[in-house]
Amino acid sequence: MAVAVGRPANDDLRNLSLSGHVGFDSLPDQLVNKSTSQGFCFNILCVGETGIGKSTLMDTLFNTKFESEPATHNEPGVRLKARSYELQESNVRLKLTIVDTVGFGDQINKDDSYKPIVEYIDAQFEAYLQEELKIKRSLFNYHDTRIHACLYFIAPTGHSLKSLDLVTMKKLDSKVNIIPIIAKADTIAKNELHKFKSKIMSELVSNGVQIYQFPTDEETVAEINATMSVHLPFAVVGSTEEVKIGNKMAKARQYPWGVVQVENENHCDFVKLREMLIRVNMEDLREQTHTRHYELYRRCKLEEMGFKDTDPDSKPFSLQETYEAKRNEFLGELQKKEDEMRQMFVMRVKEKEAELKEAEKDLHEKFDHLKRTHQEEKKKVEDKKKELEEELNNFQKKKAAAQLLQSQAQQAGSQQTKKDKDKKNASFT
Ligand code: GTP
Ligand code: MG
Repeated sequence: MAVAVGRPANDDLRNLSLSGHVGFDSLPDQLVNKSTSQGFCFNILCVGETGIGKSTLMDTLFNTKFESEPATHNEPGVRLKARSYELQESNVRLKLTIVDTVGFGDQINKDDSYKPIVEYIDAQFEAYLQEELKIKRSLFNYHDTRIHACLYFIAPTGHSLKSLDLVTMKKLDSKVNIIPIIAKADTIAKNELHKFKSKIMSELVSNGVQIYQFPTDEETVAEINATMSVHLPFAVVGSTEEVKIGNKMAKARQYPWGVVQVENENHCDFVKLREMLIRVNMEDLREQTHTRHYELYRRCKLEEMGFKDTDPDSKPFSLQETYEAKRNEFLGELQKKEDEMRQMFVMRVKEKEAELKEAEKDLHEKFDHLKRTHQEEKKKVEDKKKELEEELNNFQKKKAAAQLLQSQAQQAGSQQTKKDKDKKNASFT
């Protein structure tokens, strides 16, 4: 008889009752203890213009003073700065990373402002994926730097969202959990704030920007999350300064006309933000990052690398098969490239050969031409030489004739003189 191998079908499961205490009801406690001893990681990305109150809000949220120095307004581009801290509350350790967008909104051309942010988020996903793909993985003690929450600081203009806000949020919404907040909300009047909030939400919807949805599927948090969602985007005020209110000290901002209390829900939504971000949904933000955003990155990346779950006949594709297919594809491409290179080389050699032949032909022609002109010149010189020789001969002949005439004339002259002398002598005698 054949024995079924693999996973049992669901209808193979039978419900059995236990007749005594076994102890696996301690599993949730074991899980809590393990997680507590391991510690947690949480990473926040603060996106907002220079001086909008990012550092102050972080200090206020975590009741501490993180390192930060104010950015200048003359950064050539947007750059991301990450700092990690170890925090402890009761026996829970939290490795917190705060990432700041330095220089955001300060450039004249803001077209590429979102790019460094997207690249940073992707780089953290890539680092995690590389760790997952290692043969010897150590995800257990891996410092997870993936961004769990992105606080998007909206300027308190009371007007509407800037195009930079919409573009940036749109580029980030499939990669990170965006929580929009109105910064420095103490600068907006109460009646204007309500209108501003609805304007922002309708602009986000009409531009298809997906912000983080507080989960409402779990009973314990469904009600609070549903109530809080109505208040989005949270209008926050940050301050670490303590002001005496009644007989208590409270974090507040003091103005000549009054005091804005950070933790007073009638003054701002700071408490709501802290409740949603830290006290109720921190674990959901971590989970959404892993199961939604990272999963999407991983899927796209693996598909890009040629991995598939099924082959064209919808049969499961094993890793081995994918590797073989990819290897063959790569070898095929390599062979093609090699052939192309060889052909190119042969063509280049032929071209060079033709060029050399052409040059040789030119040289021959030039040589022939030179030879011909040389012969012509030589002939001309010989003709000239002949002419000159003839002239010389004639001249010699003429010279000889002249000399003959001259000597004959001299002879005749001397005979005459002798005759005259003889005549003279004869007359004397
Ligand atoms: P950079 O890191 O330089 O980009 O600035 P930042 O966004 O971290 O702003 P930061 O927290 O340094 O605050 C800048 C100024 O705004 C400081 O003077 C803060 O006191 C003030 N500020 C911060 N939060 C608030 C707020 O909620 N309301 C008002 N009115 N002022 C605030
Ligand atoms: Mg700062």
